[in-house]
Amino acid sequence: MSMIVLLLSGPNLNLLGEREPEIYGTATLADHVAAAQAVAEAHDLTLEHQQSNHEGDLVDAVHAARGRCAAIVVNAGALTHYGRSLQDALASFEGPIVELHLSNPAAREDWRTTSVIAPVATAVIAGLGGHGYPMALAAVARLLA
Ligand code: DQA
Repeated sequence: MSMIVLLLSGPNLNLLGEREPEIYGTATLADHVAAAQAVAEAHDLTLEHQQSNHEGDLVDAVHAARGRCAAIVVNAGALTHYGRSLQDALASFEGPIVELHLSNPAAREDWRTTSVIAPVATAVIAGLGGHGYPMALAAVARLLA
């Protein structure tokens, strides 16, 4: 049975393609998930994707991943910068965690320069636009090998 990787998408990522395209590009979240899916399949990994605008839903998704999923890739959107309950949930996950961003938050407004996800992440991929999605899955495959 192939290992399951959970891709978690936080608030406002459902608007990718329409939302601030000069920062986030014109591809939709479905496009990014498809690109991640292709790499997952190539590495015999099963990709599950969940998007929510609500922190509690993301916490529940992490809880459901415990003991079931091998790794998590998370673009937490703005929760990256203050989502302490998501941080705590991720700290309870035993496998590798890749924090992912389209933009490079460290090079943007001051409030985006802190990540509460980074301290519980194995690796961070940021600033590569949509390329980050397939790269995150390739990184997970390497971490799980
Ligand atoms: C983001 C960066 C965050 O600061 C922002 O709130 C997002 C998207 C990114 O992918 O670049 O919603 O996570």
